[in-house]
Amino acid sequence: PIHPILLCGGSGTRLWPLSRKSYPKQFSQLMGEESLFQASARRLSGPGFARPVIITGDPFRFIVTEQLAAIERDPAAILIEPEGRNTAPAVLAAALWMERSDPDALMLVAPSDHVIPDAAAFREAVAAGAPAARSGQIVTFGIRPTRPETGYGYLELKEALGAFDFKPQPLVRFVEKPDAARAADMLEAKNYLWNAGIFLFTARTIIDAFRAHAPGLFEPVSQAVKDSRSDLAFVRLASEPWREAEAISVDYAVMERADNLSVIPYDKGWSDLGGWDAVWHESGPDGEGNVCAGNATAIGCRDTLLRSESARLELVGIGLEDIVAVAMPDAVLVARKSDSQQVKDAVAVLKARR
Ligand code: GDD
Ligand code: MG
Repeated sequence: PIHPILLCGGSGTRLWPLSRKSYPKQFSQLMGEESLFQASARRLSGPGFARPVIITGDPFRFIVTEQLAAIERDPAAILIEPEGRNTAPAVLAAALWMERSDPDALMLVAPSDHVIPDAAAFREAVAAGAPAARSGQIVTFGIRPTRPETGYGYLELKEALGAFDFKPQPLVRFVEKPDAARAADMLEAKNYLWNAGIFLFTARTIIDAFRAHAPGLFEPVSQAVKDSRSDLAFVRLASEPWREAEAISVDYAVMERADNLSVIPYDKGWSDLGGWDAVWHESGPDGEGNVCAGNATAIGCRDTLLRSESARLELVGIGLEDIVAVAMPDAVLVARKSDSQQVKDAVAVLKARR
């Protein structure tokens, strides 16, 4: 079976004030009845999938158990990081954990904050990547780029794709978060895909890749796994060695340096909900382009997102265009929708003031 490894330690500041340090976006009901985390766990379950391994921070451990119980899913383990060190140490820890029971275990490492509407198609794409992963490839999932986004990784193919089928293609190169000029070049060049941030490999393959490309992480992370303490489903990684691990993403630490990368092209819908503009887009705006969520009403508005998270807070917009307004019991955001990427700067300002 494929072992889902769900990363859910990030804080998602661009969706403030819904996404908070103590309650990040993956656990909120941003869209639909379930949280993004629950939707991710459900998506990666069923025939062919083992119980998921969750890797998260200490403050979220009970949110994780409660949200899994609510959808009747049992975790295989919940690995707890003593502190967030970005994704490379998290992925290596999960791989070393899996290696204990089976070095050839197939791991699907996935964020828990993405929207992938067609779960069946996605499972099909994952299954299509399994043979390549078993043969020692690091399999990525590639999305057709639509803008010169600088917040993503780019996957270079030998030539532009003919069809977007689920056939694995060898990658020339992985480029993480290019500057604006390079992103524009890559969009124009046509032989690049966006990295979905989802990876399939065996425990052995990724451990070897860390050994080769990020040897400095190896010692602290393997010590943290070796000295971990288990308490029911919780596996607490040992703090002392963990703090020695460099905080770096798996994209920079391994993917940019690896030469055994493949990609499964995927065009059945994917969004990482990287801001309120993306939430608006993914929520299916009505005929006037509006999205109203919770206790919100739009009158004579266009292309506007209104959301009230409190039953006691009526939010009404009149005659607005291209606006995002999000009201929480203790904070309100009002912004031009096309400026909504700047929300993370606002969060930094608020943090500095505290
Ligand atoms: N457990 C744990 N610990 N999870 C973490 C940590 C951590 O310290 N830091 C981040 N995560 C989780 C986040 O919650 C998210 O689900 C996932 O790991 C990816 O981290 P992001 O911080 O969201 O990465 P990114 O969006 O900048 O970039 C990645 O995703 C893009 C697509 O959304 C890269 O893989 C890019 O190449 C990719 O294009
Ligand atoms: Mg992300």
